[in-house]
Amino acid sequence: MKFQKGNPLKGTVTVPGDKSISHRAVMFGALSEGTTRVTNFLQGADCLSTIACFEKLGIPIENDPGEILIHGKGLHGLRAPAGPLDTGNSGTTTRLICGILAGQPFSTELNGDASIQTRPMKRIMDPLGQMGAQIESLRGNGCAPLRIRSAPLHGIHYRSPVASAQVKSCILLAGLYADGPTSVTEPYLSRNHSELMLRNFGASVKSEGTTATIQPNPRLLSQEIRVPGDISSAAYFIAAGLIVPNSEILIKNVGINPTRDGILHVCRDMGADITLLNEDYENGEPTADLLVRHSSLHGTTVGGALIPTLIDELPVVAALACFAEGTTVIRDAQELKVKESNRIDVMVKNLSAMGARITATEDGMIIEGGSALHGAVIDSRLDHRIAMTFAVTALAADGETFIQGADCVRISYPGFYEDLEHLCR
Ligand code: S3P
Repeated sequence: MKFQKGNPLKGTVTVPGDKSISHRAVMFGALSEGTTRVTNFLQGADCLSTIACFEKLGIPIENDPGEILIHGKGLHGLRAPAGPLDTGNSGTTTRLICGILAGQPFSTELNGDASIQTRPMKRIMDPLGQMGAQIESLRGNGCAPLRIRSAPLHGIHYRSPVASAQVKSCILLAGLYADGPTSVTEPYLSRNHSELMLRNFGASVKSEGTTATIQPNPRLLSQEIRVPGDISSAAYFIAAGLIVPNSEILIKNVGINPTRDGILHVCRDMGADITLLNEDYENGEPTADLLVRHSSLHGTTVGGALIPTLIDELPVVAALACFAEGTTVIRDAQELKVKESNRIDVMVKNLSAMGARITATEDGMIIEGGSALHGAVIDSRLDHRIAMTFAVTALAADGETFIQGADCVRISYPGFYEDLEHLCR
């Protein structure tokens, strides 16, 4: 797909529902008693993988335009699937569902696409194993395909070496089926959607600093959930609005949970003009409209506790840094290497091809901003966040940019190019 230098971005856009919250709404709805109704659900391929898995586990789910109805069967109501579960490209589906499957009285196999088959699963196999779960990597390489056999689970206190909401949520979900309380302590707080939503469904979940503790065997009751817009999707429009001269856009109803809003802090540190309007709450999740105006940016340093709050936005932060005066350092972000692609490597290669001065480090990137970028051929490596990052970067680069595998945006934002075009008209 081809992109070139654009007009200023003007007008209003509403980004689709949050991916993390959409996955969890289906999963927790499936484990609760009664019908959970979800509106503004993200119809991206990853969330559709979650729906397909729970249908195979015996949960009737109606996916009608505008709403999803999940006819939950309670904590112990799943049934053995007829064959292996397919988690597609979705790390969240794969890791969270393992926590649930570990507590079932039947065995399951699961697998995903080529990317999922390279992503580390030892990070969940270790703690689940400590709880007594029988979980095996069928090729012995610590990746999917995985087999999970029925076994009694014990409550543990797990100190996670990584700040990962997927690891934390997996363990908390297994904790629903354990014989005592289960705690997870992370080095930094990762997104807390599981804790917030499980509480709404009726589970007892306590959060203290970077430790979350869940009590086993709650009665979960169906909920009405309206999913806020995904700040990770909004990030591409924020970036486009900031770097394309004379832009001014309003991004409506974006989730601004403090465990997810690092992109706003980093952009403001870089000198961005972003105003929050209409602040509100949806099912305990804070939301706002974001007014973004073109800004002159300067470099910054991003690291430490901020990293988990913008982990998926770091590729677009690297792109933004090319348009900022001075140096930007991204550190403590080694997790980028094990996302849908190695996002340090793919960003350095593709931004270099556009003329950027960027170097890879062990745990991030260093970008010398302020020199003009030019169009190039971009290999998205079928990573949705890379395709969207370069669609936006191309709007402020000279000449033409060609993105290979551009339709991988269907993973998290099926209408992305249409919405971008609408703002550029
Ligand atoms: C997610 C957590 C993050 C994030 C992913 C979604 C979630 O992964 O990168 O896109 O929904 O829990 P990690 O927990 O592995 O950092």
